[in-house]
Amino acid sequence: MTRRTFALSIPILTEAALAQRAAVQGPFPPDTVWLNANENPEGPPKVAMQAMIDVLPKSGRYHYQEYRDFYAAVAASEGMEANQLLVGAGSSEVLQAAIHAFTGADRPLIQMSPTYESPASVMQALDRKVIRVPLTSGYYADVKELAKAAEREGGGLIYICNPNNPTGAVTPKKDIDWLIENLPTNTVALIDEAYIHFAETPDMESAFKHIKAGKNVVVTRSYSKIFGMAGLRAGSAYGRPDLIGRMAPVRNNVISIVAVRALLATFPEAQSIVADRKTRFNKIRRDLCSWFKDKGLDHIESHTNFVMVDLKRDVRPLLPRMVAKGVAVGRPFPPLDTMLRVSIGTAADMDKFRRVFWEVYSS
Ligand SMILES: Cc1ncc(COP(=O)(O)O)c(C=O)c1O
Repeated sequence: MTRRTFALSIPILTEAALAQRAAVQGPFPPDTVWLNANENPEGPPKVAMQAMIDVLPKSGRYHYQEYRDFYAAVAASEGMEANQLLVGAGSSEVLQAAIHAFTGADRPLIQMSPTYESPASVMQALDRKVIRVPLTSGYYADVKELAKAAEREGGGLIYICNPNNPTGAVTPKKDIDWLIENLPTNTVALIDEAYIHFAETPDMESAFKHIKAGKNVVVTRSYSKIFGMAGLRAGSAYGRPDLIGRMAPVRNNVISIVAVRALLATFPEAQSIVADRKTRFNKIRRDLCSWFKDKGLDHIESHTNFVMVDLKRDVRPLLPRMVAKGVAVGRPFPPLDTMLRVSIGTAADMDKFRRVFWEVYSS
């Protein structure tokens, strides 16, 4: 067995996807409002619910014969071909597959900091190097520094979360374009677009066009956020067929037929579902941001379903006190130690957040 096939055969069963929730310590009051993991309180669209109910009695079978058409439908939903796609149990699984495929003992992960930590956790489990590059003053990726680091290392995997979790900031399309045009040799760019559906700024552009141009780019998407299917575990990666081919051997298995049917029912209505949810949640976010402003608190302009607000003091002591009062918010994100990240829930969830946050913050 060669070193490469040996490495590929090791399943890394990281629980990084659960880290967010695990970081919030209970006991939790029964009516706790969960604003800690950027989920969607509305859950799956109605059409998806019906499709799942319909398939449940038939879930005693594998349904393997349906997956070819399913992959074609997922790819077509983004204007791609099936050989440019890998579907996994959440985007967590395909991000992990990219790490297995494009990093190694001598090929580090190069990422912005702070950002979504799951890829770095996988690297840690594999005992591979992670290079963290501070964000720009606008809280998005410093593409020149990321490229410099990859150059210095002789290549690697550059991970950009766009819009970024936890800051909610967008890396402008001109910066992404520059990076892709100037990718060092032996380097792949992994662009995580889990929150793209919430972004309204013209600075936000998907990196899909770079895939179509044949570049060393992999883009991941999640159905856990605007589509409200976090518990169903479905996500996808898109890339040149040869890059997808390198990721495919480390994917675990097909996703559940329940998630498959939920997605197939959603695709025909996806545009209106996204537009409707985007309008509703972005309004709730804007209302929250105005409230922060009225209270004299600065926030980072967000293009997602969460916001970071600057408390100008360590957030750590506040978090357990808020949980005790039934509001769970994001964990600390060093080095942004004074920033609290709160997910956007329903209007009623945010009313409760405002009440509890203000009680705890001002006492
Ligand atoms: C930026 C980002 N990428 C990926 C994920 C993983 O989501 P999932 O595996 O549910 O698709 C998350 C989850 O919070 C996230 O914030």
